[in-house]
Formats: sequence, structure tokens, C-alpha cells
Amino acid sequence: MTHSWSNSPPAAAAAAALVVAVALAAFSGGCNAGTTSAFVRKAQKAVDMPLDSDVFRVPPGYNAPQQVHITQGDHDGSAMIVSWVTPDEPGSSLVFYGTSENHLKFSAKGKVYRYKYYNYTSGYIHHCTIRKLEHDTTYYYAVGVGHTLRKFWFKTSPKVGPDVPYTFGLIGDLGQSFDSNSTLTHYQSNPTKGQTVLFVGDLSYADNYPYHDNVRWDTWGRFTERSAAFQPWIWTAGNHELDFEPDIGETVPFKPYKHRYHVPYRASGSTSPFWYSIKRASAYIIVLASYSAYGKYTPQYTWLEAELPKVNRIETPWLIVLMHSPWYNSYNYHYMEGESMRVMYEKWFVDYKVDVVFAGHVHAYERSERISNIAYKIVNGACDPVPDQSAPVYITIGDGGNQEGLANNMTEPQPKYSAFREASFGHAMFDIKNRTHAYYAWHRNQDGHAVEADKMWFNNRYWNLKEES
Ligand SMILES: [Fe+2]
Repeated sequence: MTHSWSNSPPAAAAAAALVVAVALAAFSGGCNAGTTSAFVRKAQKAVDMPLDSDVFRVPPGYNAPQQVHITQGDHDGSAMIVSWVTPDEPGSSLVFYGTSENHLKFSAKGKVYRYKYYNYTSGYIHHCTIRKLEHDTTYYYAVGVGHTLRKFWFKTSPKVGPDVPYTFGLIGDLGQSFDSNSTLTHYQSNPTKGQTVLFVGDLSYADNYPYHDNVRWDTWGRFTERSAAFQPWIWTAGNHELDFEPDIGETVPFKPYKHRYHVPYRASGSTSPFWYSIKRASAYIIVLASYSAYGKYTPQYTWLEAELPKVNRIETPWLIVLMHSPWYNSYNYHYMEGESMRVMYEKWFVDYKVDVVFAGHVHAYERSERISNIAYKIVNGACDPVPDQSAPVYITIGDGGNQEGLANNMTEPQPKYSAFREASFGHAMFDIKNRTHAYYAWHRNQDGHAVEADKMWFNNRYWNLKEES
């Protein structure tokens, strides 16, 4: 869709006033320029898969490793964090790995952790960082001992560089419902093979159970292993990771998440696992924390302020930000929850030409135009989003499956900044071709694996600052 939100000043004052009036009327809701998909689905709770579902199957053998998952282990992708749980006793914290499937000639030793949550005691949670990996190389790895040894493999990312093609999958608010299973299956079956998942928060939804039954953290770990053991998932914390429950004596926020999902935050100079950055192929990925302090002088604020100038777009042209709570969201769910963070950081995103911001939280799909809302100065009244080619595209992809059902109640009319919205479960792919172009597509679960329900060619904001058609 093209639009004509001209910013150029007309010559005559009268003409200017008329043009501004018409533009404002159009922008403030008089004109519905985006697309609200015709697919309208019933609002019904997503039903969690029962505990005896095959996707939650416990691997055979005493104390066999389960819930295996990997994530990038350093800043540039030459390390990997391998994590798993042994349920009965600590067992071995060794990871054996190598480039030949039958000869795992290296090993690294991890650490083991445990935690209690109300009346639940976790299994033995192992995290092991394996370092100095060759880029663009398939590694086989094994965890466990004797007859419970379990083998997996992954491919490391290519060396960081400006024209390295790379495909990121996008999943948010996954949960462990039947819809979650459909989303993960669609992601894995997508003919555009995702190489790394960018996960935008809300993992297991265990906190929706009485006493946040942490058994549902374990089932979620087993459910996602079929993807997360073979390719890195880049983690963002959502509100369902807070697990803040003073009524049952649990006042340490993020306790289960922090124990189970380690990220390489120190490698980017962060002091907290909830905000950090990585470089991967031709992308620079910044993960932010919607549920940690972000006001001026807070650790997250000072980190991000120092971080953005470090992004070298000659080395990593694509600047991607992940967060949980969206800044631009036209659904009547979590409406404006991201507003205070937007006020703090949006100008930086425009100044540093962030290409795209992915968020979750709202259980539906939405893509924005390139817009910004940074002109407001208390007395000037300039408080509407305006077209801005230096601004990111904002994508809400909290449609993984969750447990609470779809968000299908939208603000009407559709705000002009909203380019496309639909309340369906699904996933997306961000497929970087080179320094100038990336192809993006969103897939709804009701379609076949290859159908693109929404799509867009991205022009890189640093190398190719042209309006996308
Ligand atoms: Fe959420």
C-alpha cells in the first residue's frame, strides 16, 4: 500500500492550513488505510495439551537428559550454551562435541543448578558453554551418560559480515496448547528453513496454574526440545516469566526462567540476563526487558544508551530489536502497555535507524507502517504517529498459541499506522538476503506450511533507505 502523508510545507499559509487539517483528519482515524484481515476467529481459550501428550514424553532411561536447548553463547556466534535437565540426580555436566558424528573429540564441563518454587523442586539444570567453535559448521553433541547418552546437532552461524544471508524464525507467546503445537510444527515445516528462532517472550505459561505449577516448565522444555536442541533460540523475557507470587512466598521475580534459560548477557556488557545483544551473521540483535526498570539512570537505560552507538552497520547492516510488550498495538488487549518504554527509547530507534522491532504479548498479529511519534514537547501538541522512513517497522507476533486464547477485539477504525492485522495463531520468517534486502513473511496456522498470509520486502535502513512498496 502506498500513502501520501506528505511532510513538505505548502507555499501559501491558507493552503498549508487546509492540507494540515486534511492530513490530520486522515491520520487521526478518519481514514482507514491499513488492512484488517477478513479472517475473524472465535475468542476461545487455547487448551493446554494434557500431561501425557506425546510431545511431553520423557526420554527413556534412568536420569536421562531432557529439555535440551541451545542458545548463542557469546557476542559473535562462536560459542553456544547447551542446557538440559537431569531429573533424578546431578549426573554428568559434560557436553561432548565435534564435527564428526561418530567421533565427539571435544568436551566441555558445565554447571548444575537447582531451585525451589513453593512446593516444587526442580531437577538438575545444566548449562554448559562450548567455545571457539568454527563458523558455518555442523557440530554434533551429546549429553548424558552410558545408555542414556542423547545426541543432537546444530550448525553454527556464518562469520559476521554485511552480506551474509541468514533466516530468523519469529515466535512469541508460545505456551503449550494444541495451538502451540501447531505453531511449532508450522515453523519447523516451513520451506523457508529458519536457522535461529528469535523468541519474543512468554514461554510456558506455567504461572497460569495453581502455585505456578513448575511441572509445566518441564513439559514446555520437553515440548520445544525438538527445535531448540537443534538451533539456537534467542530468549526475551515476558510477563509470564515474572513468576512473582508474594501470596505463596515467592518474591524473587523470574526465578524459574533465570534458572532454566541462560543467555550471554555479559558478552555485551550487560549486567542482567533480561537485556543484552548478540551479533549473528549480518544482524545485530538487541533484546530489551519490558519488565525490568528502563527509566533514565537505570542499568537498562544506561546500557542501551551506550549500546546503540556501538552497532556497526558496515559489519552488521540489520539492526533488530526484540521486546515483549509492543509499542504500537491496535488491539484492545494490553493497549498502551508499552507506551512508557516507547516514550523513553523511541527517539533512539529513529536516530539509529532500527530496521524492525519484534514484540509479543498481544495474542494476535500486527505489522505497522514505518512511523514515529517523537515530536511531542508537552506544549506543542505533536502527539500523533507520523510517517518516518528512519523509523522501524513494528511487528507484534504474540500469536504462538499461549493459553489464554486469541486477542480478536481491535480498536476501530484501524489506526493509519497499522498496516496489517489479523487475530490468528502463527509464526514469521525474517529472511536476510544481503545488506540491502530482507524478505519477511507471516504464516497463519490455518494455512499450509508454505502460505504467506502477510509479507513485505524490507529495505535496510542504513544501506537502502527507500520506502518499501
Ligand atoms: Fe505477555
